Order: sequence, then C-alpha cells, then structure tokens
Amino acid sequence: MVSARVRSVYAHPLFAAALASIQERERERKFCRHGLPHLLDTARIMCILGAEEGYAADEIYACALLHDLGRAEEGDHAQKSAELAAKILPECGFSAEESGRICAAIAAHGHEKEGEGLAGLLSRADRLSRACYACPAAEECYWTEKNKGIEV
Ligand SMILES: [Fe+2]
Ligand SMILES: [Fe+2]
Repeated sequence: MVSARVRSVYAHPLFAAALASIQERERERKFCRHGLPHLLDTARIMCILGAEEGYAADEIYACALLHDLGRAEEGDHAQKSAELAAKILPECGFSAEESGRICAAIAAHGHEKEGEGLAGLLSRADRLSRACYACPAAEECYWTEKNKGIEV
C-alpha cells in the first residue's frame, strides 16, 4: 500500500532529524509520545475512517507521517509541522495541489473543532489513536475526558 512517494518521506533527512529530536525531547515523557508508532497509528486509522471518502493512501500517509514533526521544537507544533511538510512534500513527488491540501490539514489539526475534509479526518484519527482507556497516566492527563472508548 505504501508508495515510493511515502517511502521517500520516511527517507527524507528533515523527517529523520525531526523524529530523532522528538524522541530525545520526549524520552522522559509519561504522557502520549509523538514518535513513529503514533504517526503510523494515525495513518492507519485515517485509512479506515477515510476508506469511502476517496483519499489516496499515499496522501493520507504523508499527512499522518508529517502532522506532528513540529514537536521537534518549541512553539505551535501544528504550524511548524505544516512548514516542515511544505519543504518535504515537493521533494517527495507530491504536487503543489496535494502539498497544499496536506499542509492545510496539518496546520489545522489539534484544535477543539475537528473540521472537515482531510483536516477533519486527520484530527479524528489523531484523537482515536490515543489509548486513554488503557493509559497509566490517564488521571493526570487533560486528554482523559476526550477519548474514553475504543472506537476503531
Ligand atoms: Fe499534533
Ligand atoms: Fe498527533
């Protein structure tokens, strides 16, 4: 299912550098982390939820893989992730139209309102990927109210 374009996202030096930085920054974190398992969980849930919405799998994977890269540094991570995605996507064979759609979805994720289209799909999958119902830090996490059941 994963295309050459998605493989080139995995292999992109900015992707690898951001993931390494996130892993280092979150080494002691007891709440949900933002490494490759979360990115892939989000991609797979997006595929399940979006199966009938007509999104290409490689567009979904690119969106999910890049959506939290901005956590490599301080600041608004959705905006920073979108900025990194705008650099990476054209170098991985994504058209300006695809890149624009993916970056807009990434910039919009994480807000209370889930939105529509690819942005809504990303936000729903992002939330559903978190196993709050089985998390030892659930009592201390502000997310607990958001995601108590197993839905996907
Ligand atoms: Fe995020
Ligand atoms: Fe996320």
